[in-house]
Amino acid sequence: MDPQNTRILPVGPDSIAEAARLIRSGEPVAVPTETVYGLAGDATDAGAVDRIYAAKGRPSFNPLIVHVANLGEAERYGLFPETARALAAAFWPGALTLVVPARRESGLAPAVTAGLATVALRCPAHPAMQALLAAAGRPLAAPSANASGTISPTRAEHVLASLGGRIPLILDGGPAERGLESTIVGVDEDGVRLLRPGPIAPAQIAALAPLRPDPAPGRITAPGQLRSHYAPAKPLRLNAESAAADEWLIGFGEIGGDDNLSPSGRLDEAAARLFEALHRADREQRPRIAVAPVPAEGLGLAINDRLRRAAAPRDGA
Ligand code: TXA
Ligand code: MG
Repeated sequence: MDPQNTRILPVGPDSIAEAARLIRSGEPVAVPTETVYGLAGDATDAGAVDRIYAAKGRPSFNPLIVHVANLGEAERYGLFPETARALAAAFWPGALTLVVPARRESGLAPAVTAGLATVALRCPAHPAMQALLAAAGRPLAAPSANASGTISPTRAEHVLASLGGRIPLILDGGPAERGLESTIVGVDEDGVRLLRPGPIAPAQIAALAPLRPDPAPGRITAPGQLRSHYAPAKPLRLNAESAAADEWLIGFGEIGGDDNLSPSGRLDEAAARLFEALHRADREQRPRIAVAPVPAEGLGLAINDRLRRAAAPRDGA
């Protein structure tokens, strides 16, 4: 597909209707959510799911999150232990993904769960994604709308730069509010485990359900947790107090830098701006990126998780 064949339309009733029409005909469409932009397709249509994997160049062993309008819909696809219901009641709609045992014969295309016995479900808060769920009338499989192994998109132009020509339509809803992918927790009879840190902090989860330590740290439990999953194109150095001449410095708080995640040192602002700052650093002339220290507390845990992955050498993710 020619890059010019990818249209960008502002979110509105007409563009939502057009996106729903494309989805019902088996095409994936990029759509804003409160976390990052997603590449949404009909999760019950094997051809549509194949097209999502193909557009991203994503390996077929890495399963997709299924987005639904509410908990009732989610229970058509997954089996919810009591703790999972409590977490959904507290944080849905919102930036929490629950991995629960999959219901058999639920109608989801098998490739969505990549053959696992579990399914990842999220009820998103963004009105555009909710409107699309209602208009399409289907559960929507939606990974982040970027080529596999690259930084997630927080703006429509990031999606265009990464997937232009590979998808027919991008709905533009402006910059993503949270800026980091959802927190993922796995819930089964044995309890709750954190699979990917994100906008909902571990302490918020732990207030409702004890968080069990990962039984096998280092083993890949959420397949997307491959070390270099969020890599920019350039080498990146962490905890930089200052920059070398060939480095583009992304500052935080009092460490000013060429760009700054949050001059006032706010973690929510830093999270919202992180991927934007990495995308920008990739486009700048200087061949290396340095990032100032960000406190590893609350939302800072998720920010540091993404930064460590961005700094890790590529491992083929
Ligand atoms: O905020 C988000 O979660 C965004 C928006 C679009 O909703 N989506 C997103 O999707 O980040 P993606 O595909 O980039 O990341 C989903 C992660 C992957 O790491 C995948 O391996 C993991 O969820 N995952 C999906 N199903 C799983 C399962 N059954 N068990 C464990 N991990 C799973
Ligand atoms: Mg992703």
